[in-house]
Amino acid sequence: MVAFALLPFLLAAVSPLSSDAAPLSGLTSMAKFKGVPVFPPVNLGLMCEIPMFQNACARVAAKTSVGKQVYTPIGTAQGVADGSGANRFAVKYATHTRWAASTVATKWALPTGAKNASGLPLACPQPSVDPSTYTEDCLSMMLYVPTSLKANSGVPTLLWIHGGSFIAGSATAPGLDGSKLAVATNSIVAVMQYRLGALGFMAPDGTTNLAVKDSIAAMNFLAKVVPSFGGSSSKITLAGQSSGAGMIRALLAAPSASSLFQSAILQSDPIDYGFLNVSTQNALQSSFNTLTGCAASDKACQSSLSVDAILSAQVTLGDNAPSIDASTGSAEPIRPVRDGSLINTPLDLTAPFPPVSKPILLTNVKNEAGPTIFGAFTGILAPSVFGPVCAASLGDARTETIQASPFYPTSNIADTRVPLETLGTDWIWRCPTWSLARSWSGNGGRVFVGMFVTGATYPVNNAIAFCLQPGSVCHQDDIEIVFGTVPNPTPAQAQLTTEMQARYKAFLTTGSPNAAGLSSWTAATTTDVHAHQLGGTPSPSGEIPAGACDPSFWGSAVQYDYQVFGI
Ligand SMILES: *[C@@H]1O[C@H](CO)[C@@H](O)[C@H](O)[C@H]1NC(C)=O
Ligand SMILES: *[C@@H]1O[C@H](CO)[C@@H](O)[C@H](O)[C@H]1NC(C)=O
Repeated sequence: MVAFALLPFLLAAVSPLSSDAAPLSGLTSMAKFKGVPVFPPVNLGLMCEIPMFQNACARVAAKTSVGKQVYTPIGTAQGVADGSGANRFAVKYATHTRWAASTVATKWALPTGAKNASGLPLACPQPSVDPSTYTEDCLSMMLYVPTSLKANSGVPTLLWIHGGSFIAGSATAPGLDGSKLAVATNSIVAVMQYRLGALGFMAPDGTTNLAVKDSIAAMNFLAKVVPSFGGSSSKITLAGQSSGAGMIRALLAAPSASSLFQSAILQSDPIDYGFLNVSTQNALQSSFNTLTGCAASDKACQSSLSVDAILSAQVTLGDNAPSIDASTGSAEPIRPVRDGSLINTPLDLTAPFPPVSKPILLTNVKNEAGPTIFGAFTGILAPSVFGPVCAASLGDARTETIQASPFYPTSNIADTRVPLETLGTDWIWRCPTWSLARSWSGNGGRVFVGMFVTGATYPVNNAIAFCLQPGSVCHQDDIEIVFGTVPNPTPAQAQLTTEMQARYKAFLTTGSPNAAGLSSWTAATTTDVHAHQLGGTPSPSGEIPAGACDPSFWGSAVQYDYQVFGI
């Protein structure tokens, strides 16, 4: 039987960290700095770490552009030129012991894995990659700072949280060189790592959401240091893609994080899954503890486990999760938990929506489910396959309603993968995103909804012919557009990069993606999300029709997974 349940594996489709991944574009140019001292060794750096000199150092710094050596309240930062108008700093923002909450760094230190200022952080432990590419001591970030900035000039900071289904990814994944985005938005761009998988979400003693707390530590770290780089501690905007956007949704649902950021950008968040609830988390947790053979209270056993053993247990847990509790789904069973302490609202249609006030920007790409459907089914599918495939994932009741609707026609369509892809995109991403937008708008927040109809094929999608077809915009194909890291962009891609960076610049400073010279992007209301078309030939309205994402269909006639399972 064809398992449409495969669909969620899309989210795991991140490119490996290994050497076949394209290096950061700015990094290739770093080679030319090899052997050149990054900065002359001066004593000013040491002096500026002494509290009584810090004000003087800050005054000197304020007059000159932020350079490659920056005096922060926690020590001297050494950076390197990034080749496109920004300096790049790699830093460890927090430390932790295994399965304990992280502590914000109190001294500026290079990430584990970086031997000098041009070094890069190792990733957090993850399955299926070379172990030499990761370390448990992985709470690091990259900072990209326009060379023209002066200290204390109060510019915003964009903190990027990478995707990878909460089990993969890193701050140095393809396309995430933030220098062009930093220059274009005149802001500091930070790209952070957080603990992944079991190390971030399955503390055997039941401590929840460690990885979410890592993100909070990262924001606290930025609040301390960004003024020295020209930033303002009170102008931090979160941005992320896929599970990175899911992490941001968790932070939006965490009252204790609220004062740490001003606004948020969520790209391609698979909102259909919802946060786990406590009973589901407990079921996964106890299964994980059994797999590792360490009792919840046995710290000695837990700290003696090898990373490899933890990752194997994590992989087994991931495989077993849907049979332990169907509400986990198979795509990202390990994810933030509504634990009632850090996260106390699902931010969805299953509970009263809290009052909100932060501006948010929610985007999707046209073919979110493209990599999964066309990756799982490599040949043309007949119309008769639609029903069984749909029922395998959504069950008979939802399938019946879907088949009776006009939204996913199979007649006169040569390949049933096409309506299946539309269905997957609507179900996991687009419609729950639009539901969130309506709730956000109805409860006091300003929200802008967008849809990318132009993209740039992310490296991992090169293996999927559908994603290479003109007009396809697959999951992750928005990343390089936003970062301005598309290799050899077409004029349409370059134009969209310019537009998105101008919109992000506006959003970081005003909370609205509208700026002079750009088409007007209307904020969502409870009755019309006004989904703005990003790229492509502008339609007369410039907006994407609701179709199946009308509130009378997805969310009511056909329930989201989080509604079905009550998580
Ligand atoms: C930085 O460290 C790397 C090894 O991690 C080394 O190859 C490189 O030469 C060093 N660069 C400088 C400027 O010292
Ligand atoms: C949590 O989700 C599970 C799985 O769907 C459900 O059976 C259970 O009732 C939920 N528990 C709570 C406390 O809401």
